[in-house]
Amino acid sequence: MTTVIPYFDWPARSADWADDIVEVFQEVAESDEFILKSRVERLEAEIADRTGAAHAVAVASGTGALTVILAALGLGDGDEVVTPAFSFVSTASTVALRGARPVFADVEYETGLLDPAAAEAAVTEHTRALLPAYLFSGSPKMGAFAEIAARHSLHLVEDSAIALGAEVDGKPAGRHGHAGVYSFFPAKPAGGIGDAGMIVTDDDELARTARMLRNHGQPAGKRFYHELLGFNCRMDELTAGFLLRKLPHLDRLLERRREIAAVYEEGLRPLAPALLPPPAGFEGRSVYTYVVRAQQREELRAHLAGQGIETAVYYPRPLHLQPAFAHLGYGPGDFPVAEQLSREALALPLHPDMAPGAAEQVVAAVSRFYAAGR
Ligand SMILES: Cc1ncc(COP(=O)(O)O)c(C=O)c1O
Repeated sequence: MTTVIPYFDWPARSADWADDIVEVFQEVAESDEFILKSRVERLEAEIADRTGAAHAVAVASGTGALTVILAALGLGDGDEVVTPAFSFVSTASTVALRGARPVFADVEYETGLLDPAAAEAAVTEHTRALLPAYLFSGSPKMGAFAEIAARHSLHLVEDSAIALGAEVDGKPAGRHGHAGVYSFFPAKPAGGIGDAGMIVTDDDELARTARMLRNHGQPAGKRFYHELLGFNCRMDELTAGFLLRKLPHLDRLLERRREIAAVYEEGLRPLAPALLPPPAGFEGRSVYTYVVRAQQREELRAHLAGQGIETAVYYPRPLHLQPAFAHLGYGPGDFPVAEQLSREALALPLHPDMAPGAAEQVVAAVSRFYAAGR
């Protein structure tokens, strides 16, 4: 079966940006600026302005942003960080690679996001930070996490990698705790043309430390003097130059994503409870992926594939059951909701350049599956 509606339609997605990409390469080729130079500085200023953060620190990826911020907070041996059992690996791997312990907590079935009550129950005397993540089209309950962090004197770091441009309770995603991070991985709503990320914080000292850590622990202007053991986690000028061109369009692109999500919501809601769409009301949310829950996920997926519609599974295995985290000693049954979602979650195609009518076609194909008496 030929693909009719691809999940990642790269040719369609990059068509609008082809001229910008070529022009940015030309610009950079004619300059002697490659890494952490004027475009990166302008991008930092733009993100700080957009989010109201006192500091935006550009780094090499969203994973790099988490790595640098956890190091800047001084997290390490013996420290615990409470984080979701169901997320992208970086939310927890960056903690473990610091020598700290990711303490998993279960997520909410409706959203797939960290459950505040479960997170608070996981806090111990060793807990130093809470690290909730934004996933799919949802935003964690940041107000509740801010209260828990205050109650237990914890750092609150937002894995808002997917959520630049979203708001929770009238405040930008990434701005509810001590620091937030964004990813510019190409598939993200604010995707660039390579790996890149950003840290935002109001804390002057944390920002100063993060700036050193991203560049081998060197303070500004002191080359080959290493105040800290740092990383090579720097943003390049090509990506920054491209993002400077793309970000002015981000709100429009997010709006288009919300429109497509609304088509799915309207068409798929009647199929509940056999198929459960994500919570409706996309205003202010960053719709990265549109993830439904279906008990017959594999059959539905095969049915859609048979009609040329590609889908994706985020995430087929929860973090506590990944071999990389075996040393933490978790096992099957520890986080039942995360495990259920890893069996049921299915992402339908959604990106701003989808052809008109494509989402309606997906709705029709999904509806046919359930109309066939399943
Ligand atoms: C929730 C979450 N956290 C962190 C990351 C890491 O971002 P990057 O791919 O830029 O390292 C991602 C990206 O895939 C993500 O989805």
